Amino acid sequence: MKKWKLDSWKNYPVKHIPKYDDMDELNLVINKIKRFPPLVFAGESRSLIKQLSDVCDGKAFLLQGGDCAESFAEFHPDNIRDTFKVILQMALVLTSSASLPVVKVGRIAGQFSKPRSSPVENKNGKELPTYLGDNINGIEFTEEARKPDAKRLFRAYSQSASTLNLLRAFSQGGFADLRQVHLWNLGFVKGSSQAKKYKEIEDKISDALSFMEACGINADNNRRLRTVNFYTSHEALLLPFEQAMTRVDSTTGEYHDTSAHFVWIGDRTRQLDGGHVEFCRGIKNPIGLKCGPTLKPEELIKLCNKLNPQNEPGRLTLISRFGADNVDKFLPKLIRTVKKEGLNVIWSCDPMHGNTLVSTTGFKTRPFNNIVKEIKKVFAVHQSEGSYAGGLHIEMTGQDVTECTGGAQKISEKDLSHRYHTHCDPRLNANQALELAFLISDEIKKNSQYSKNIIQAAS
Ligand code: PEP
Ligand code: CO
Repeated sequence: MKKWKLDSWKNYPVKHIPKYDDMDELNLVINKIKRFPPLVFAGESRSLIKQLSDVCDGKAFLLQGGDCAESFAEFHPDNIRDTFKVILQMALVLTSSASLPVVKVGRIAGQFSKPRSSPVENKNGKELPTYLGDNINGIEFTEEARKPDAKRLFRAYSQSASTLNLLRAFSQGGFADLRQVHLWNLGFVKGSSQAKKYKEIEDKISDALSFMEACGINADNNRRLRTVNFYTSHEALLLPFEQAMTRVDSTTGEYHDTSAHFVWIGDRTRQLDGGHVEFCRGIKNPIGLKCGPTLKPEELIKLCNKLNPQNEPGRLTLISRFGADNVDKFLPKLIRTVKKEGLNVIWSCDPMHGNTLVSTTGFKTRPFNNIVKEIKKVFAVHQSEGSYAGGLHIEMTGQDVTECTGGAQKISEKDLSHRYHTHCDPRLNANQALELAFLISDEIKKNSQYSKNIIQAAS
């Protein structure tokens, strides 16, 4: 294999990277960003790999969620707080009901660029370049807005830095304290069936905390009761930016992409001889790889070997996204081949991207039932293949949006227009996300593979 260099990806074909009219300006911007402070520290990515190695062994569960595309318009502390709250609530449900530690990773603080199915968009007889994410062009349907503008990268960097700053404060500053679980509730979830089940967990935790307090263990003398580890992630799509944020870690001499703790390769850019795979093989962060219906088992093995040549547990997360009706057709073959080769991977399930459709009312949506169906199928397949369904990868928000149909609120196609705010794909709202957390807890409890680990962990 040829030697990896920070810019060796440029020697390979790349898809979904925009052409900028003004390349001098792009270079100027990129050269400035190269000197900006890293957003995350290499040691944090290493800790994440360590936690993910437990997921690989079925001793923890990976929860990864957030916007499909972050935007400048939705940038607000309340939105960051509410997404964080839902992730904490989901993690609490999973930890307390399924007795598994949860590794929490947000699609946040840098999830801007989008690969799109068509390079152009047509509206009222007019054709314009597609919207590619707020760090590249604007969503407004005008020629001006749709031109890639390199200066948008400054704003995206700054938004990512302040988002991360708030997340760090929430994770470490008392907000994530287990004595505060009741405060993580979002107003509009109150009164729902999820809220009642969540209340039972709150009571259980409160009893456990009182018992521990009586034994002398409390949040004041035990950090783990008042802080959480929360990590960030995004798709490593816009390689000029990812390259600019990739630095040599002075403690090890290794390259780390410091734009996020975890980055993934999308389903449209995972070509074995493409620039995205080339770039990601050289960085030491934990890496995700989206696995859709066109991925062949032999190709997956080659990708795993290229991205994780040392077969390090926790380095590589395979994120399956087939669509509810395609899981049985594609997933078992991939799992069997990976197992036969003895490769250490995490299998996570993205039940969103294979279940997108256009509603009769003209909105891109995802029926909650199909999302649930894909998750159940994925758990059943892993159970019968003897592997772990180790994670969930979802597009969600803490806002009370109406973007995916169904769920306990019974959002109908007609309701979609009420609060449809996404800049790209439809997200689960807090109610729907919590419902999934309860469902997954039940699936984990049913799964004999996991119960073996839960018993071992307890003994
Ligand atoms: C995404 O995660 O937003 C995405 C575009 O997914 P995929 O690459 O699986 O289509
Ligand atoms: Co998406």
